[in-house]
Amino acid sequence: MNQVDYLRISLIDRCNFRCQYCMPADAEIEYLLQQNLLTFDELLTLLKEVFIPVGFTRFRLTGGEPLLRPDAVEIVRAIASLPETQDLSMTTNGFLLANKAQELYDAGLRRINISLDSLDPDTFNEIIGNRGRDRWQSVWDGIQAAYQVGFDPLKLNVVVIPGVNDSEVLDLAAFTIDRQWHVRFIEFMPIGNGQLFENRGWIPSEDLRGQIRLRWGLTESSVRGNGPADVFRIPGAKGTLGFISQMSECFCDRCNRMRLSADGWLRPCLLNETEQIDLKTALREGASGAELRKKVSYLLGIKPEINFKQRDSGTTGTYSRTMSQIGG
Ligand code: GTP
Ligand code: 5AD
Ligand code: SF4
Repeated sequence: MNQVDYLRISLIDRCNFRCQYCMPADAEIEYLLQQNLLTFDELLTLLKEVFIPVGFTRFRLTGGEPLLRPDAVEIVRAIASLPETQDLSMTTNGFLLANKAQELYDAGLRRINISLDSLDPDTFNEIIGNRGRDRWQSVWDGIQAAYQVGFDPLKLNVVVIPGVNDSEVLDLAAFTIDRQWHVRFIEFMPIGNGQLFENRGWIPSEDLRGQIRLRWGLTESSVRGNGPADVFRIPGAKGTLGFISQMSECFCDRCNRMRLSADGWLRPCLLNETEQIDLKTALREGASGAELRKKVSYLLGIKPEINFKQRDSGTTGTYSRTMSQIGG
């Protein structure tokens, strides 16, 4: 069992996109009220008094879309300056990144993962549920800005959906040849939009590797990260190709993470909807650091059992919450 030292922190449940694979087009998503979000001070208190003392040292800021949170840069600055922080990263859809990349870098963020599901603005707009408004260019500008500013590694996430963007796999992979970008192909999971999953299905990473191998060849590689990606490289390429294969491969036994939702619930597994703890209410009711640490330690203790128990339903069942609500 891995040491669980990586916390994915959702800063806000709202998102300015409505990606098809994340939520059905007509879904009525109930957003959290402002007063139910963890405040800047509460988040920092939880990190300093609870998560760091029990062993967490790696943090990723997620959403919804984390850059929708007005104090996102301040949060980065505060977490980056904690002496115990060994790694701080962010997962964003990139739409607001062009204007924020420099500020985020200056505040201490060094690595960033950006979703880019298509190179075709029409397909992209269809995927993100914003037909008619060309948001592709803004995301592209965000990626370029992050590259210029010096984020390293800079990773692009692609959820591969049969019949939607699978024909672009080679074009996306080609980006890694002369740019030091890391493109990761993610197997579509039955989370968020079960209907789309049933209609479209998913493509095993090994099939994608087969296509890439045939075109250019592929060798094993590595790149800094805490995640479940298997990393390869096109021979001679500057960047790498990652494959996140939660459908075809069980990586629960190497899971090293927990998730803190924007309203302060600690979730031991992406797929678990029962074993979670409401840290925000406990904190607001005056629980001491020691009491909160005890709650987190309890979840750490039962996590191995949860990982394995959830695996089967994780690949066959569907879930009531979207990735934007869980924090990606
Ligand atoms: P690095 O530290 O850069 O390796 O990050 P990461 O790959 O953990 O982060 P990112 O937010 O980019 O996650 C990429 C994708 O991996 C997510 O969108 C999910 O599809 C998948 N993923 C992340 N965490 C989990 C997890 O705990 N379980 C499962 N099944 N999938 C996950
Ligand atoms: N299957 C796989 N990945 C998903 N994401 C959101 N929904 C799904 C899904 N159903 C991913 C996005 C992004 C992160 C926030 O979550 O690609 O990388
Ligand atoms: Fe898309 Fe991520 Fe927003 Fe979900 S949270 S709608 S995957 S950008």
